[in-house]
Amino acid sequence: MKEKKYKISVFRFDPLVDTDYHFEHYLVPRSKVKTVLDGLIYIRDYLDGTLAFRSSCRQGRCGSCAVHVNGGYGLACEMPLKPGKNVIRPLAQLPVIKDLMVDMERFWEKHESIKPYLVRKTNNAEQSYENRREMEKMIDCILCGACFSACLMTGKNPDFHGPAAYVILNRFLHDERDAIQKQRLDIVKGENGVFRCHSMYNCNEACPKNVKPSENILEIKKNIN
Ligand code: FES
Repeated sequence: MKEKKYKISVFRFDPLVDTDYHFEHYLVPRSKVKTVLDGLIYIRDYLDGTLAFRSSCRQGRCGSCAVHVNGGYGLACEMPLKPGKNVIRPLAQLPVIKDLMVDMERFWEKHESIKPYLVRKTNNAEQSYENRREMEKMIDCILCGACFSACLMTGKNPDFHGPAAYVILNRFLHDERDAIQKQRLDIVKGENGVFRCHSMYNCNEACPKNVKPSENILEIKKNIN
């Protein structure tokens, strides 16, 4: 009996040799793979060793494998391959290093700019159980960059911090131990800050952890007003 195969089309671009991107098409045996990441690993190991992509934990925790598949963002290690066509692209809004690998520098710059660390009120400031529970959803953010890529404003305005940075900022606004909440709001209240978000909810749709960046952005806006 003929073996069933997945059709996988992968965005290919090597800026050192290519003038434009193109798609390469592969057939991968269904019995060998389940997820998009399995498919990419199979292609790299058995069909085309030049394919570049990122992955690490293979269990939806590290965030390194975020890609765009069939019109939506997600983690390659969590997205199942579909019996029809599987079209895989890199994250948008970030320069392609090679194939599915993008340069995350701008994303990390924005992350750093919001001071993504706790500045304690006192050395022994403690956190209540209730307060920790309040921040649960924000802590689920794995900084994969999917929301940043889905956001139309990060593409238009290089100074806009992006949804992931606002989720982390809101996490510290909720933290009863934090001493610099006013300073945090000052960082994002400027003309290229949080009010540039037009609540398109693309970030909510893209987030593989259901963190709901849009709701976090609304909360920050309310804190400024
Ligand atoms: S490989 Fe770590 S989240 Fe997919």
